[in-house]
Amino acid sequence: LNYHVPRTRREILEVLIKGLHRLEYRGYDSAGVGIDGGNSKEWESNSKSIHLIKQSGKVNALDEEIHRQQDVDLDVEFDVHLGIAHTRWATHGAPSPVNSHPQRSDKNNEFIVIHNGIITNYKDLKKFLESKGYEFESETDTETIAKLLKYMYDNRESDITFATLVEQVTQQLEGAFVLVFKSVHYPGETVGSRRGGPLLIGVRSDHKLSTDHIPILYRSSGKDKKSCSTLPRLDQDTCLFPVEEKAVEYYFASDASAVIEHTNQVIFLEDDDIAAVSDGRLSIHRIKRTAGDHPARAIQTLQMELQQIMKGNFSSFMQKEIFEQPESVVNTMRGRVNFENNTVTLGGLKDHIKEIQRCRRLILIACGTSYHAGVATRQVLEELTELPVMVELASDFLDRNTPVFRDDVCFFISQSGETADSLLALRYCKERGALTVGITNTVGSSISRETDCGVHINAGPEIGVASTKAYTSQFVALIMFALLMCDDRISVQPRRREIIQGLKVLPDLIKEVLSLDDEIQKLATELYQQKSVLIMGRGYHYATCLEGALKIKEITYMHSEGILAGELKHGPLALVDKLMPVIMIIMRDHTYNKCQNALQQVVARQGRPIVICDTEDYETINSSSRTIKVPHCLDCLQGILCVIPLQLLSFHLAVLRGFDVDCPRNLAKSVTVE
Ligand code: G6P
Repeated sequence: LNYHVPRTRREILEVLIKGLHRLEYRGYDSAGVGIDGGNSKEWESNSKSIHLIKQSGKVNALDEEIHRQQDVDLDVEFDVHLGIAHTRWATHGAPSPVNSHPQRSDKNNEFIVIHNGIITNYKDLKKFLESKGYEFESETDTETIAKLLKYMYDNRESDITFATLVEQVTQQLEGAFVLVFKSVHYPGETVGSRRGGPLLIGVRSDHKLSTDHIPILYRSSGKDKKSCSTLPRLDQDTCLFPVEEKAVEYYFASDASAVIEHTNQVIFLEDDDIAAVSDGRLSIHRIKRTAGDHPARAIQTLQMELQQIMKGNFSSFMQKEIFEQPESVVNTMRGRVNFENNTVTLGGLKDHIKEIQRCRRLILIACGTSYHAGVATRQVLEELTELPVMVELASDFLDRNTPVFRDDVCFFISQSGETADSLLALRYCKERGALTVGITNTVGSSISRETDCGVHINAGPEIGVASTKAYTSQFVALIMFALLMCDDRISVQPRRREIIQGLKVLPDLIKEVLSLDDEIQKLATELYQQKSVLIMGRGYHYATCLEGALKIKEITYMHSEGILAGELKHGPLALVDKLMPVIMIIMRDHTYNKCQNALQQVVARQGRPIVICDTEDYETINSSSRTIKVPHCLDCLQGILCVIPLQLLSFHLAVLRGFDVDCPRNLAKSVTVE
């Protein structure tokens, strides 16, 4: 939304399309934009209509469609302009132009909306609106929101601000949503709201902002409901975030990567905030004040660099992120691990560590790759904390109504910090009085804000849908936590020192593993036409197998299974024959002999496994037809080195199979729906 910055329609569309490209990893089955229509030089008349352009497929398809439109003059200039755009990951209705967002209230596009999330009561709302004569064109839940807005607007009793209208609509909605609206009835204004998903506002001004926070305006304090039946108009001084009459632009987005090239000043909204911009002024309000509410939203300065979200010389973000791991693990440890005196400091836990040390049990809760980081570090957590440690998939944890107690400490591991299942599990644990800890990569994310304390893994933005560097950084963060938990236990000091010194050499060892890239690409050329790959290991490497198999599934669409070698004889061995591709992880730790047994069992069934083993493990090297040799490191850290060949393998397999590595079909980076 720009004010007093003359922009041509071409520039406006470029901003929107570029923003969509940055968010494409969040969903990429269709996309759309809504901009002011009309081609007159008079903004007033242009803003009386809204032009929608939508297309299925990736953002480039939308861009091409925009340039095909004959009736859109790209050179018309606007002093004030609001455009909204969306890239979709379908939940209701197949990917198609009509199901893409923005969704509209009617054929005249009086109200349009973009939406992330799912409206669970949309069928009831739709039935109600149909009974009022509304005809629906799409199969989406979102269309009901646009139509409800129009219904409420048409039935208003008196003048109503855009913000109040949106507030009334959101009160009717159940489920999860992040919404941004545009309307011909409120030209040059926008309203955004969130419940259960991320929404931030970037603010760009040519001069220093006069404030670093925006006070929240409450519509009702509980006592004086009557006098506050409608929100004050936005020109009242009390509720405003006034910005001088100079160049100002506002960017509403679900992720900071979409705004960072325009501004690093952002405001993260909370659930049920309603943010409105009118006449260049931003206000944020909530319906009622509740205990614990923060009375203002801070304007934060993002540390993200534009170049962090660019591919550079790599062919894909995933490849770039795999190769960033020597630095990203250092960034996770930076300022926290002191290799001279073997100490660990985690600022985000310092006020709670004593309480955590007294807890009765640790529960690690996550989804996907983040769950695997929990599985990977469980053993060392049990060893160093001597506490029972449960590792849970968030969805299953909730399905089971798992008992949680006040003296439990629950960890929520999440790259994005927005995964709906993990967030719901967090709220579930909070309600039961447990202490909650976030391990996330996204500052300002819902999980990092709603947990009592936590650790940011500082791996830098991860864009490739298949998570790589976040996994190794989560791994390191959990190890640092384990070290902190036992820093005053004398008996474990030798082990602590050993682990800390192991962490010190990790970045160089990761570089050595990455130098196997050519060899792994060659291996991929031999495997890429296969249908299936089994990955076997045990102990510290069960998680490595699960994570390697997930990478292969996600981006190559081959069937792949991570198998606990201890379970081989209880079923999976039946899959093994001379044709089945098998990868085994055999490291020189306490499970070595058992892994050798598993290898023999596979070989005896004519399997010819590719073995990931230690560079100096000649016994395994000499007895295997094919090995990938990784440098040795400390047992509990070895999983970081062993997962990298599997990351590289999945990447090369996907490239050879001709798939888009960063945007695998049917998946999205951040799953903000249950
Ligand atoms: C999605 C992504 C996965 C990710 C999982 C958990 O499924 O495609 O790559 O591991 O969500 O995401 P989180 O952001 O919570 O780590």
